[in-house]
Amino acid sequence: MQHHSNLSHASLAKSDLSKFLLQFICQFCKNRYSATPVDPQSMSELKHVAIVGATGAVGEEMRLCLEERNFPIGKLTLLASKRSAGKTFPFRGEEIAVQELTHDSFAGIEIALFSAGGSISQEFGPSAAAAGCVVIDNSSAFRMDEGVPLVVPEINPAAARNHPKNIIANPNCTTIISLMALAPLHEAFGLKSIIASSYQAVSGSGAQGIAELEQQVHAITHGLPLEQKVYSRQIAFNVIPQVDVFTENGYTKEELKMLHEGRKILDLPDLKVSCTCVRVPVYRSHSVSITAVFDKPITPEAARAVYAGKKGIQLCDDPANGIFPVPLDTTGKDDCLVGRIRQNLVLENALDLWVVGDQVRKGAALNAVQIAEIL
Ligand SMILES: NC(=O)c1ccc[n+]([C@@H]2O[C@H](COP(=O)([O-])OP(=O)(O)OC[C@H]3O[C@@H](n4cnc5c(N)ncnc54)[C@H](OP(=O)(O)O)[C@@H]3O)[C@@H](O)[C@H]2O)c1
Repeated sequence: MQHHSNLSHASLAKSDLSKFLLQFICQFCKNRYSATPVDPQSMSELKHVAIVGATGAVGEEMRLCLEERNFPIGKLTLLASKRSAGKTFPFRGEEIAVQELTHDSFAGIEIALFSAGGSISQEFGPSAAAAGCVVIDNSSAFRMDEGVPLVVPEINPAAARNHPKNIIANPNCTTIISLMALAPLHEAFGLKSIIASSYQAVSGSGAQGIAELEQQVHAITHGLPLEQKVYSRQIAFNVIPQVDVFTENGYTKEELKMLHEGRKILDLPDLKVSCTCVRVPVYRSHSVSITAVFDKPITPEAARAVYAGKKGIQLCDDPANGIFPVPLDTTGKDDCLVGRIRQNLVLENALDLWVVGDQVRKGAALNAVQIAEIL
């Protein structure tokens, strides 16, 4: 679909383009809501829900998911920084004004979806939890804490019901997308280790990431100076093998999330993971190339059969006919797509596969709303 090409987006106007793009991509893609939405009648009562970071890439998507899935909301409160106070956003035909986030924001709120970054979660999450509100947090602030469940509803839904600290964590987006493909195979063949490389979209860095790619493409094609604030290198017409900061062992924090979070979600303390995370000049949807090693012998045919009927993951694997998933296929959609499934030629009991998913939606907003639906 030509409308989705990066360059055609890049040639659009500059101001507020990032937010427009996210909305445009969402509106354009029709087949988005394949996961089952909630029947409001099945929920016992209407909830007072807050979105913290409501003006951001993930916060905006959360509002859309809540509306599209008929989440039983009596009242929606939108919270962001002082800069955004008073801005309005539509929800179910009404305009809701954003309020400034303070420690007193949570009285009467039952569920707070946090997506304003780790430091905001650290500072305000405990206040919300102490006010009796269940916090569903998108940042990495609490993911590895004991007593904080780390939940992908298709994989470990029961964990969401045990949240003694009133905090539930949403996993890292690349981890969610990878595990959507790996968990069904793990159930059948026993996962032992993962070697992966990710191809991560700029919207993973929020609205600023899109703006930086946009500006650089425009500057290069018009002979103007490049601006570089978000990424360590030029992102336009380039790829950058760095997502998040480097740690002492040479891996980035993002790469280690797949290891630690994968172990916690799958309850596999001995799972081995080696990962290289790469930022690519794609607007939205992360792709991951995975080599997975299993306890039991596995074939591509057996793996394909496992995906039949699984929620949230669709097989898209017929390379002879040009069928394999790409980021534009999943943008704005709920389901992750898996393809390029083949026998690994080096390791025993190992498969190679390619999984793609919308990291703003299944990697963040949708996953959080699905968790709220479990409560
Ligand atoms: N983008 C993704 O694909 C993705 C995927 C998974 C997880 N996440 C996580 O989700 C979180 C949000 O990411 P994002 O991409 O949506 O970022 P973003 O587009 O930059 O949005 C950040 C949001 O945080 C708010 N905020 C910033 N400072 C604040 C403050 N002092 N008080 C209250 N609100 C404040 C912003 O409000 P203002 O507009 O008022 O500044 C905005 O609503 C991050 O923790 C990120 O790691 C993101």
